[in-house]
Amino acid sequence: MLCVLQALTRQLEEALERAFPEGAAAARASGASLDPQLAPASKPEFGDFQANGALALARPLQQPPRAVATAIVEQLAADPAFTALCLSPQIAGPGFINLTLRPEALVAEVASRLADSRLGVPLAGAAAVVGGSGAAPDAGGAAGIVAPSPPAEPVIVDFSSPNIAKEMHVGHLRSTIIGDCLARVLAFRGHAVLRLNHVGDWGTQFGMLITHLKQVAPEALTTADAMDLGDLVAFYRQAKQRFDEDEAFQTTAREEVVKLQAGDPVSRRAWQLLCDQSRREFQLIYDRLGIELQERGESFYNPYLPAVVADLETAGLLVTDDGARCVFLKGVSGKEGKPLPVIVQKSDGGFNYATTDLAAIRYRFAAAPAGDGACRVIYVTDAGQASHFAGVFQVARRAGWIPEDRRLEHVPFGLVQGEDGKKLKTRSGDTVRLKDLLDEAVERADADLLRRLEEEGRQEDEAFIRHVATTVGLAAVKYADLSQNRTTNYQFSFDRMLALQGNTAPYLLYAVVRIAGIARKGAEGEAEPLDPQPADAAFDAALVFSEPQEWALVRHLLGFDAVIAEVEEELLPNRLCTYLFELSQVFNRFYDQVPVLKAPPEARASRLALCRLTADTLKLGLGLLGIPTLERM
Ligand code: ARG
Repeated sequence: MLCVLQALTRQLEEALERAFPEGAAAARASGASLDPQLAPASKPEFGDFQANGALALARPLQQPPRAVATAIVEQLAADPAFTALCLSPQIAGPGFINLTLRPEALVAEVASRLADSRLGVPLAGAAAVVGGSGAAPDAGGAAGIVAPSPPAEPVIVDFSSPNIAKEMHVGHLRSTIIGDCLARVLAFRGHAVLRLNHVGDWGTQFGMLITHLKQVAPEALTTADAMDLGDLVAFYRQAKQRFDEDEAFQTTAREEVVKLQAGDPVSRRAWQLLCDQSRREFQLIYDRLGIELQERGESFYNPYLPAVVADLETAGLLVTDDGARCVFLKGVSGKEGKPLPVIVQKSDGGFNYATTDLAAIRYRFAAAPAGDGACRVIYVTDAGQASHFAGVFQVARRAGWIPEDRRLEHVPFGLVQGEDGKKLKTRSGDTVRLKDLLDEAVERADADLLRRLEEEGRQEDEAFIRHVATTVGLAAVKYADLSQNRTTNYQFSFDRMLALQGNTAPYLLYAVVRIAGIARKGAEGEAEPLDPQPADAAFDAALVFSEPQEWALVRHLLGFDAVIAEVEEELLPNRLCTYLFELSQVFNRFYDQVPVLKAPPEARASRLALCRLTADTLKLGLGLLGIPTLERM
């Protein structure tokens, strides 16, 4: 009900203006405005919204808060647009104004959602209309109120971003799942989203790897498909060990990096082959999870590194410290209180992870076609990289690469832990391979399904079982990750994520199947000759709700757009998960306590409409989490 909130805010502002013209003028003169502080009601008994502004305004307006509230309410009562939306406002406590929407206004909103595939979520930049296209005529002045929303802008989500020649680990899985969800929500809001895979495909590790492979497995550097990622990872480990122990190896490896960075054709070809091998393995995971990503690895920014140094030099930010070129950070100090540097160029002339990120920021905000011209750049990585990003962001700001009002955000997440609370490991103590993890989720979902089919005495074919088990298994992994507040660590538990009860994917997928089934069954009934109403006019003209459980469901359904706006702003997918979980609970209360299919005709059509809207909201919401739904399960 965001557009209602916006419309009411404006009506309240206008009421304040009329009630206190001098106070409003004074506020304007100082660059402020009188803020009614309208928010969703903190408790259902307070109605739908509450305006708390009278308390803060008492002092500047030099009146007791209740008098301020009374004056506002008097003005509201004289505004036909307001009285069309709300019942008469209640003043509570020291001067809170409680607002309750008229049933007709709620009904008009429901009608408009039923006719809107976006379920009331406006496109960024598009004007929202209270009451929407399907507004019932009796909504009066509510229809046609135009509320502006922010313009669409190109947004970059940098996520997943594994490293070549290393195994993609659970941290990358989290980044992939969270990043994909955020990209989906932003795209649904109408932003041009660039999903970038900032793979680690550059740097010293290639020097080690190529040097080592030249000696032990030269065919891997000249032949495509010579080995799989598992071998590559093992070779990388050996190379790293040699690098740490053997000085001669170190020197050769460093020379190899220089050759690669200088564009030596043999080194380049070897590098290309190594990248291809990793890429193929990563793609298998992305395909399974339905993730789309554009690869733009660290190497992409190689040509831009000198410009980074030059810019920082010009800005007077570079300091040579122990041979390395650094920018010392403001407000950040290390162990002995010394300011911490971001190292831009090492003493041997080499660049590092931070330099590449500086080049990436510079490029992403630079105007097209020399850059992406992004308005918002979002990085989804583990919280362990928070200080890296804080440092790099600070340097980029001071370098002047980030135009005013553009946003640069690190979206950190916690660790994935085993059920013992320690870092997730296999039983033998190795790091968990993502492929194995996804396989196990699907296998367990398969076993659960077979057990359930057996209990219910159902027969299903092979294809059905495979489809359901795959969908449920992968959905469980995704949802378990997304439903946690991402900033905390989370414990990975197959049992918990696959449970059919609780805040889990299987529970929600099952709710969709059940609710869509009810809506379908009802629609079939609707077409019976007994029903005098043509199907399409059935609810539009005659949505009637009387039971508290119906109104509770209506209000929850209408909160969808606000949740999407919140996720867009705060980048917390768990908000959407909680909303969907609560929606299915509110629905269950409604369905348990209010007859639907057996209700009298006029109530039946309205209740079926609520079933349909609930199913549609769950489907759309799960879709934005990257979770496809099922027809049957
Ligand atoms: N490759 C990095 C890692 O595995 C993540 C990169 C995140 N993105 C970035 N622009 N730094 O930790």
